[in-house]
Amino acid sequence: MKKGLILSGIQPSGILTLGNYLGALRNWVDIQEEYECMYFIADLHAITVPQDPKELRENTKKALMQYLACGLDPSKNVIFVQSHVHEHAELAWVLDCNTYMGELSRMTQFKDKSQKQVNVRVGLFNYPVLMAADILLYQADFVPVGEDQRQHLEITRDIARRYNSTYGKQVFTIPEAFISETGAKIMSLKDPEKKMSKSDPNPLAFISLLDDRDTIIKKFKKATTDSMNEVRFSDEQLGVKNLINIYSSITGKTPLEVEREFEGIGYGKFKMAVGETVADALEPIQKKYYELEAPENEEYIKNILKQGAEIASGKARETLKEVYETTGFYSK
Ligand code: TYM
Repeated sequence: MKKGLILSGIQPSGILTLGNYLGALRNWVDIQEEYECMYFIADLHAITVPQDPKELRENTKKALMQYLACGLDPSKNVIFVQSHVHEHAELAWVLDCNTYMGELSRMTQFKDKSQKQVNVRVGLFNYPVLMAADILLYQADFVPVGEDQRQHLEITRDIARRYNSTYGKQVFTIPEAFISETGAKIMSLKDPEKKMSKSDPNPLAFISLLDDRDTIIKKFKKATTDSMNEVRFSDEQLGVKNLINIYSSITGKTPLEVEREFEGIGYGKFKMAVGETVADALEPIQKKYYELEAPENEEYIKNILKQGAEIASGKARETLKEVYETTGFYSK
């Protein structure tokens, strides 16, 4: 017996980062045996900010290959592309009509992201409603995400509760966030007050899952630290704290153990050790990724997405039908 249904997704707005891996993907791989799991590539979310069509298409396929390279097994998980299941957009509309402007205005991610845009699109504002639709469509019990998505999970729960109580019916399962203790908040290597993001204009700020060994080590050498020259897990040393966090979430050592390991050793050696540990962890992932890139795997990749979309559509259709009935739409 599986313990419940898990659902999560990542936007194909670039090559995935070490943050996506430690905060999400790695945990997805760990739970694939115990739960019924559905993972998608959130292309509808990606267009909430401008995207180059060619890059978006390529990044979607690359995201799937990164999912597989990180160890997601297509025979154990339903893997699909969000836009292949039209019910996401349809449910989002119904939920839009059950969500308040005030609650969306409080979303911190909207506040951050909208500041970086010249013309802020309505989709960026509505984004959490689409995310709620993704989750509620499959009646997910748990949603494994990084810390930055906690608020979006809260609003999903609010929207689901409100819909259920408005119509006096348990149409939606109330989902819970699954946030791991380590790696849930990996910060930028250049500005440790900001989260590491795949769309950061400065490539030195993030580690891409496909960065080669020399690039990874170079980025860690250039990571922002401080002048204290002491490896301490402290809020006064956010850069160092982030490096300890990365190192401990890969090695499984506690921050205290890491502090002891590098006691009296300068930042140079510490950064080198973190860089090498990350490069070692990403090496097998990259090997698998480049194998998958071979043209003969094209069919295999297409098939995973085709089958995934079929299974996902079946489940999505059931929920949407119930929502349409409950909402009061006249049936055919
Ligand atoms: P996205 O694409 O920004 O990130 C994908 C996942 O990676 C996590 N993550 C991080 N974890 C730790 N440190 C970081 N620096 C870091 N950066 C990203 C995110 O928390 C996330 O788990 N809105 C979502 C995609 C989405 C979704 C959903 C997720 C759309 N619909 C439904 C779950 C359920 C997003 O933009 O993730």
